[in-house]
Amino acid sequence: MQTHEIIRRFTDHFVAAGHTRVPSASLILDDPNLLFVNAGMVQFKPYFLGDVPAPYPRATSIQKCVRTGDIDEVGRTTRHNTFFQMAGNFSFGDYFKAGAIEHAWNLVTGDQASGGFGFDPDRIWVTVYETDDEAIALWKRIAGLPDERIQRRDGKDNYWDMGVPGPGGPCSEIYYDRGPEHGKDGGPVVDEDRYLEIWNLVFMQDERGELSPKLGHPPVGTLPSKNIDTGMGVERVAYLLQGVANVYETDLVRPVIARAEAFSGRRYGANPEDDTRFRVIADHARSGVMIIGDGVTPSNEGRGYVLRRLLRRIVRSARLLGVTEPVLRAFAEVVRDEMAPTYPELQTEFERISAVVEAEEEAFLSTLTAGSRIFDTAVAETKSSGALILPGDRAFQLHDTYGFPIDLTLEMAAEQGLEVDQDRFTALMQEQRTRAKADAASRKVGHGDASIYRAVLDTHGTTSFLGYTELATEGSIVGLMKDGQPVPAAAEGSSVEVVLDRTPFYAEAGGQQADTGELRSDSFTVRVDDVQSPVAGLRVHRGVVTNGTATVDSSVVAEVDVARRAAISRAHTGTHLVHAGVRGALGTSAAQAGSLNAPGRLRFDFTSPGGAVSPTALAEIESEVNTVLQQNREIETYETSMDEARRRGAMMLFGEKYGDRVRVVDMGDYSRELCGGTHVGRTGELGLVKVLSEGSIGSGVRRVEALVGLDAFDHMSKEHLLVSQLAEQLKARPEELPERVNGLVEKLRDAEREIEKHRADAVLASAGTLADRAEDLDGTALVAVEAPPGLGGNDLRSLASDVRGRLGSKPGVVALFSSDDAGKVAFVVATTAGARDKGLAAGKLIPTFAQAVGGRGGGKPDLAQGGGTEPAGVPAAIQALREAVRA
Ligand code: ALA
Repeated sequence: MQTHEIIRRFTDHFVAAGHTRVPSASLILDDPNLLFVNAGMVQFKPYFLGDVPAPYPRATSIQKCVRTGDIDEVGRTTRHNTFFQMAGNFSFGDYFKAGAIEHAWNLVTGDQASGGFGFDPDRIWVTVYETDDEAIALWKRIAGLPDERIQRRDGKDNYWDMGVPGPGGPCSEIYYDRGPEHGKDGGPVVDEDRYLEIWNLVFMQDERGELSPKLGHPPVGTLPSKNIDTGMGVERVAYLLQGVANVYETDLVRPVIARAEAFSGRRYGANPEDDTRFRVIADHARSGVMIIGDGVTPSNEGRGYVLRRLLRRIVRSARLLGVTEPVLRAFAEVVRDEMAPTYPELQTEFERISAVVEAEEEAFLSTLTAGSRIFDTAVAETKSSGALILPGDRAFQLHDTYGFPIDLTLEMAAEQGLEVDQDRFTALMQEQRTRAKADAASRKVGHGDASIYRAVLDTHGTTSFLGYTELATEGSIVGLMKDGQPVPAAAEGSSVEVVLDRTPFYAEAGGQQADTGELRSDSFTVRVDDVQSPVAGLRVHRGVVTNGTATVDSSVVAEVDVARRAAISRAHTGTHLVHAGVRGALGTSAAQAGSLNAPGRLRFDFTSPGGAVSPTALAEIESEVNTVLQQNREIETYETSMDEARRRGAMMLFGEKYGDRVRVVDMGDYSRELCGGTHVGRTGELGLVKVLSEGSIGSGVRRVEALVGLDAFDHMSKEHLLVSQLAEQLKARPEELPERVNGLVEKLRDAEREIEKHRADAVLASAGTLADRAEDLDGTALVAVEAPPGLGGNDLRSLASDVRGRLGSKPGVVALFSSDDAGKVAFVVATTAGARDKGLAAGKLIPTFAQAVGGRGGGKPDLAQGGGTEPAGVPAAIQALREAVRA
């Protein structure tokens, strides 16, 4: 049964049973605790917690998931995928254990002819949480399972939560017995390879705190209702129903292996080591494409780092299969062809996706070339010192400077028979992370524990945001926090977090910086420096009590810094215009990848498959944007349905999650975007948009920076002043400046050339004097002297040859030394044919004196050279050489 068919049957089964079909959420959801969405329930979390009422009692989804915790297992086992699709059914206070078991059992064992998966009921085993007698009774009653195929397991296996505070509950897992040829008898508790888990039913009823009930810690609360969350592994079911050997050989994944076979000329199935590489490629290619599809680009931290690691592992695996040409685009094409029927955006976004992978592959190949040299040196040093462990500092350097993922260093070291000091590496990484975190924490509301905010939300509901129309409103303090703890009052000088029931303050979001301002009551003032939204729906003002004592329940006037907000709004409108301009010039493959809207200044990042934007195109975009300002278009903002927004062609950020009602910012036919930010009323208010720069920020992503309004004007008038000053200094009209400066540069270059020539002539002229200073050592003429200081290797060599020429063919040795200001000394030794006949070879003479100047060198019998770091040792070196020549 094809994967698309499995998905269709799952969905049909649950839709027929009254479930609302909900599309997969993006892999990237706004949850600071999760790198990637890793389960179907993630998008429903607020419904389970009761933060938001569920819009439907039952739902079903096929959720794209990424889990990279087991990345090292990929390709080695039969069942580990970094990307997979989780088919789930969800009940929000509707049916509970009995319903979940019945629905799953009917679909798993239902006849294939009537829409089921047709698994043999006699090969199904289940596990339940150790004390869940109720589930055991239900499995017997509904499925008729015998006692021996129901196993109890403790929380580690049969309690499920998100790994962080949030909803959780005991669970029951469904396994399929692949048969005795795949392992030992005795059910899942004995062997999870033979007995393959295909479906997890979670009886969602608890709220877990900091510590997990998986490890026996009691939950901190009970959810408002009893819920169901399930997850069926689509790839695992596919692998069983398709009769293949593992998840990598299923219909949607195997084609990538075929492509890799074609590239490498090697056959899958011929050699176990190669097979693992084929499977790694197949798995990672799919994850990589899906992750980029949802808007992530490779970088050195967080999601971007995971992506980078996946992509680089593909390239490296391909190399180990003997492929040297670029591979990523070709693999991405295969993934697109297989996955686009379910995820059509892979087709429409393909130019962007392939631009990202191509740029990353190119970057990695040059990294590999540069880093491999460092790696080889480190290996040679380690081996020559007799050690078997590569120092952690080197691994860190490779990671930090050359972008070598640690697993790459580990793999390459293992190929050399070396281990890596991972403890040291981890410690260095940790240090670096701590530095980065301290940085970020000083800017954001940084308390990792969201429960204090959730408590405020539970008691007082969401913060009403009035800031689209008001900049000063009355409100009351419903939450006051100091040092991450709720407090009833906070005295003058305290750093606090304040939650109001209503506020005009904009919390940082969508690239728009937070508002600043003041909260004032009769008896105290809080200066607001930052506003964040640590849990959806809540706005937290962060600042300092500047006088009086702030108390909970007080009424305050919340007043935004109006001038700053206006400058931010101008920048945000400017960003939309630049976005529209870039799209107009470069086409739809230029997709927004990030932005910043700060007072008077903006940054707009976008994917650009074609590389840099030409200066002409950039100037055109700028001029077009300024034309739109002059048209003074009205900017309308309104709420509408997602469908209507799409119909009107509103731009939406790919990978962003939007609800059913969306807010549109509309500038007529020039720009129409979904956006929650603040904007000006008419484009004319911006006055001026001045683009400052355009450049790469890595991996196919470009950045435009611009100034808006008076900031743009100030910048231009400063530059104007500068040009006027230069014009005056150079006695030229402004438009003549480039030519005048060119002329000056050329003159300077000629003069430098002239000086250089004179210097070389002077050096060579000294050759005669030097030759005259030859001393006679038992019939060999030796010229061993300090030449003029500051001569490089080239000058020294020509000078030495010249002096040697003057000695004729009789035995003669010339050794010249030249020191420089930086404490370095260069030296050259040249020998005549007569000296060489006597066995005096230049290359052999160098070691006799090099040590005296703290250096080394070498070369041929007639000419050799070297350098050292102790100019004071030159006389001693000359003496040593004399002795060597005499001997
Ligand atoms: N949320 C459950 C899981 O991920 C179904 O296994």
